[in-house]
Amino acid sequence: MKRRAQILVSRALVQGTLAAGVFLGGVVPATAADSGSRDDLRAALATPQDIMEGKRVAEASCASCHGLNGIGKSKDTDMPNIAGQRPAYLYRELRVYQIGGRGNTPMNNAVKFLSDDALVKVAAYYANVDPAQPAASAGTKAGPAKPDPLSAGKAAASGCAGCHGDTGISSTPGMPNLVGLDPKYVVAAVKAYKGGQRKNDMMKTLVSAVTDAELDNIALYFALQKPGKAKTPSPGNQAAGKSAAVACAGCHGEGGVSTGTAPSLAGQDAQYFVAAMKSYKDGTRSEAAMKAPAASVDDGTIKNLAAYYANQMPHQPTVRKPLTTEELAQRCDRCHGVGGNSTDPRAPALAAQRADYLQRVMHAYQKGERKSTAMTAMLDGLGDADIEGLAAHYSRQKARAVIYMPLPSK
Ligand code: HEC
Ligand code: HEC
Ligand code: HEC
Ligand code: HEC
Repeated sequence: MKRRAQILVSRALVQGTLAAGVFLGGVVPATAADSGSRDDLRAALATPQDIMEGKRVAEASCASCHGLNGIGKSKDTDMPNIAGQRPAYLYRELRVYQIGGRGNTPMNNAVKFLSDDALVKVAAYYANVDPAQPAASAGTKAGPAKPDPLSAGKAAASGCAGCHGDTGISSTPGMPNLVGLDPKYVVAAVKAYKGGQRKNDMMKTLVSAVTDAELDNIALYFALQKPGKAKTPSPGNQAAGKSAAVACAGCHGEGGVSTGTAPSLAGQDAQYFVAAMKSYKDGTRSEAAMKAPAASVDDGTIKNLAAYYANQMPHQPTVRKPLTTEELAQRCDRCHGVGGNSTDPRAPALAAQRADYLQRVMHAYQKGERKSTAMTAMLDGLGDADIEGLAAHYSRQKARAVIYMPLPSK
């Protein structure tokens, strides 16, 4: 047991003035909250004597699972590293387990009969053990960093580029532009080919092996490319097409830039456009909304509409570029410290924690099985890939112990 690394000297710790604030985010059991923030910090301000006594508690009650070194064995996939974890956080979690606020039978049983004093001391003991290093934790799961959704989409879209163009701008007559389309529409269209609701044997075969996750990434990739008109011929009278398009603008938007659920038509390949209208007319593409508009226009008008729309500039649909793992982690670091090395004794360190454990608890927050207002809000809207990326990221960070020292008051 070595005391090393940063020394955090904080007047607030001594004076016990740290407000309950965000860290207590609704998870602290009433009893712990009653004891006040000064009590919560007892484990952070433990004496060497307390730590020695804590070690004896650990030997008797914890070491069988956590070891005296507090580092989970790689085969125990649900065992977190607790070595070097922040003391006030450890103490608080032990109390949460004690009252069953965090349901885990082995842990609930392990702390059931321990006194408050024992919990403070054992928390102080593990907080002062050297933390795990990334090599050990990364070995538990985190492989190399996964590509972000956009790069993954680009790679997967290379299989579509031959017909739809590298960036979704078609240069082959009959091949639709995919740029400028709402990703939800692209996803639905591909699923309709797969499921046979939209009949096109070639597209069905081409997309049969594309997974849903890949499809989401592909659609995102095309949506975020610089929009451009199809580089294909568009015979027909644009001015006449423009007048006819007045009837379509309610759904397809001014200039074919849709703001609703109907697809954008701006910049669309003219030959594909004509074929699509034919298929609505003859019923091979059965979409209730398009039945009447398609029936109302003759072949000449369709050609003019196609020419008009092909020459309108598509817009980039409104989709947010997803944050990369690094960008997400910057938000987490605000509370969890730079590289997951929290300097607040109440906020858990994440650095060099096992990836499998991190992933599991983040899902538990998302499902509401583990309760924390702060964490539920932070993980809101993150997908499985984001969670996996963050878990891998933190498991690879170097863990730094922090020593909390009371500062003599003036
Ligand atoms: C029978 C095995 C077992 C024993 C004994 C045990 N633990 Fe645990 N501990 C676990 C498991 C499994 C988890 C993961 C539980 C979860 O996901 O909520 C855990 C989780 C924890 C956590 C939560 C870590 C975090 O980052 O939130 C702390 C803290 C902890 N244990 C400390 C202790 C201490 C201190 C003792 C002794 C008083 C102890 N444990 C005894 C199995 C055990
Ligand atoms: C061999 C050429 C070819 C390849 C490769 C190809 N497509 Fe297509 N795609 C077409 C054709 C032709 C159509 C028009 C089919 C129709 O008339 O319904 C089409 C239609 C579509 C549509 C409907 C567009 C709209 O405006 O409704 C989407 C979406 C689509 N493809 C996505 C993809 C994706 C994603 C890939 C790659 C995984 C892909 N395509 C690969 C030729 C191709
Ligand atoms: C009531 C709303 C509505 C009106 C009015 C309407 N559309 Fe549509 N249109 C849609 C919807 C919804 C779709 C998507 C249908 C599908 O997925 O097959 C669509 C699809 C299309 C498509 C296929 C686009 C593609 O990428 O495959 C074309 C072309 C089209 N409409 C042209 C027109 C034209 C031209 C008019 C005016 C004469 C018109 N629409 C009027 C709702 C409308
Ligand atoms: C506003 C402050 C705040 C932010 C920002 C924040 N967290 Fe937390 N986090 C907390 C608190 C407080 C806890 C302890 C909650 C509890 O008691 O369960 C926690 C707990 C965790 C835990 C459980 C640690 C353990 O050892 O069991 C993980 C994992 C975690 N956060 C990951 C993240 C990630 C990833 C982000 C960014 C997406 C993030 N946090 C952003 C405050 C924050």
